[in-house]
Amino acid sequence: MDYKILSIVNQNNVLVVTLNRPKALNALNQQTMNELGFFFQEDEMPRKREIKGIVVTGAGEKAFVAGADIKEFLGMDAQSGEKLSRKGNEIMFSIERFPKPVIAAVNGFALGGGCELAMACHIRVAGEKARFGQPEVNLGIIPGYGGTQRLIQYVGKGKAIELMMTADMINAAEAKELGLVNHLVPAGSEITKSMEIIEKIASKAPLAITKVIECANAYFQEGIDGFETEISSFSVLTGSEDFVEGANAFVEKRKANFQNQ
Ligand code: CAA
Repeated sequence: MDYKILSIVNQNNVLVVTLNRPKALNALNQQTMNELGFFFQEDEMPRKREIKGIVVTGAGEKAFVAGADIKEFLGMDAQSGEKLSRKGNEIMFSIERFPKPVIAAVNGFALGGGCELAMACHIRVAGEKARFGQPEVNLGIIPGYGGTQRLIQYVGKGKAIELMMTADMINAAEAKELGLVNHLVPAGSEITKSMEIIEKIASKAPLAITKVIECANAYFQEGIDGFETEISSFSVLTGSEDFVEGANAFVEKRKANFQNQ
């Protein structure tokens, strides 16, 4: 795909994906959503096995992503609204289910669809200038890219309902306190911290990391028993070569040399 909005840079086998529409505060227009969907879909990354993970961030000083592109909402009706929300949800699922760690490096406003994008990532690193919120009720709508569900998972039902009903914006320190953000760092070091985390994860057994993602997601999937997923994943991993290597390395007091097998 010829990416027009996403800039994708490979830094030491970590793909840093920057949403690049700073004049519109990186709002998620359809072009951006198409590019994100294409980028994260299963077959579109032949090098997926080799990369250590992905960092998602926003261009410019001000915003991570200020939400869905409100200018494209004009003329939307119930039918096109359902289509937009369904497609957005599918894209967020593809990020959440991505088999390698995906970290949101939140450098500024993460509002509406921007907060939802950050929540679909596995880990959130926020700079001091980050601001989070689900302000959709100001527009007569609700979060449509999974926010009503994921915000509750991160901060609990009471606070999530308050944030969604008041449209209040919270700063990075509040988001950290609520558990929405994993790490709070000085402005400008969001990507560096995200890379550090991915490097640490990359030293672990890759198959196990993918199973952690699968099992954590299964817990929240309707009709799927997360505990059963854990048992079957545990079984798969105990049958892997990397498990034999990991256990032997511990006993032999040496660093494990994982082969992703
Ligand atoms: N969509 C489209 N354009 C946006 C935008 C958005 N979500 N957010 C900001 N912009 C544009 C502005 O229109 C403005 O463009 P122009 O220069 O052409 O006028 C430019 O970005 C800069 O924005 P502001 O001048 O408003 O900057 P500010 O510093 O005064 O305010 C802000 C920053 C508080 C983030 C404010 O821009 C704002 O409130 N944005 C909208 C946030 C929002 O409501 N997001 C939710 C969208 S709905 C959604 O996401 C639904 C869903 O779940 C799928």
